[in-house]
Amino acid sequence: MIESKICLALVLKIIKMKNFIENLPKAELHLHIEGSFEPAQMFEIAKRNKIEIPFKTVEEIEKAYKFDCLQDFLDIYYQGASVLIHEQDFYDLTYSYLKKCADQNVRHTEIMFDPQTHTDRGIAFKTVITGISKACEDAQKNLNVSSYLIMSFLRHLSEEEAFKILEQSLPFKEKIKAVGLDSSEMGNPPSKFKNVYAAAIKAGYIPLAHAGEEGSSDYIWEAIDILKIKRIDHGNNCLQDNNLIKEIIKRDIALTVCPLSNTALQVVKDLKNHPLKKMMNLGLKVTINSDDPAYFGGQVNQNYVEIQKALDLSRENLAVLAKNSFNYSLLPTSKKAEYIKLVDSFFDNNN
Ligand code: ADE
Ligand code: ZN
Repeated sequence: MIESKICLALVLKIIKMKNFIENLPKAELHLHIEGSFEPAQMFEIAKRNKIEIPFKTVEEIEKAYKFDCLQDFLDIYYQGASVLIHEQDFYDLTYSYLKKCADQNVRHTEIMFDPQTHTDRGIAFKTVITGISKACEDAQKNLNVSSYLIMSFLRHLSEEEAFKILEQSLPFKEKIKAVGLDSSEMGNPPSKFKNVYAAAIKAGYIPLAHAGEEGSSDYIWEAIDILKIKRIDHGNNCLQDNNLIKEIIKRDIALTVCPLSNTALQVVKDLKNHPLKKMMNLGLKVTINSDDPAYFGGQVNQNYVEIQKALDLSRENLAVLAKNSFNYSLLPTSKKAEYIKLVDSFFDNNN
């Protein structure tokens, strides 16, 4: 009897925490639109474009989504993206993600896209950017979810290739807020992209980059000192270097942390050992994000739910994380303040 009462109290506590997370207003700052491509939608678009994919069922796809490292995942991720051909495909992919944002109380999102993955297959830059940005405009109107776009350079390709895509992006500059750097980190340090980042900054883009996901703290130093980035995607390996931690705090640069991505890609073996709480205790500004939700087993709310459980995060911790997501977004100061106030009043009413 006592045991079942304890059990019931525990279940209620879990449900209440889940409700708190679901209703918490938040922003998502680290999301690859190609990584939001759910298997069912991939089948649908592959079928209408008459493209063969090496999987017959959703179960076969899910079985293939077991990764030993980042490269393992990237090989499958690029294969999935290859069924996207028409503007409508990019629109549908993006709008599906934005609908999930609305369902999760994600009020603002900063979406990365990898144009080179598509232009290298002969798809026009215009097709990609038009499909994605039309979906963003419709989501603002219909769902009240705002978004900015981050054009990511693929770091396994050359800087010369990055320059070509930067050039192609310029007629659409008004639709793109920032540049990012993603794909295979090891052996492709940020310094490889020094000149193209300088040119992107000159063109008006805000510099961001993945650094320290698999790469060492040296890569993060390069990203902040050479590429002059304003936000670090992942950044887990900053914990290898105390001076770097101090510098990141001093410069008030946030880390976009992705818990379920970290376990899926074996960056962290067990969520219980995830360094997120340690980062917060050190004074680092961190946010919670999904990275590639269709591949890593959960949308942003699931990331909140699982990391809360693994690290026993308090409601106050969660509110800080949600406030960070607005404060370290690329939104104007007045908008940030509005959302932070909203999180504060949500916390006051639900604590
Ligand atoms: N592209 C998509 N997801 C990525 C990740 N987690 N790291 C680097 N490149 C990526
Ligand atoms: Zn990422």
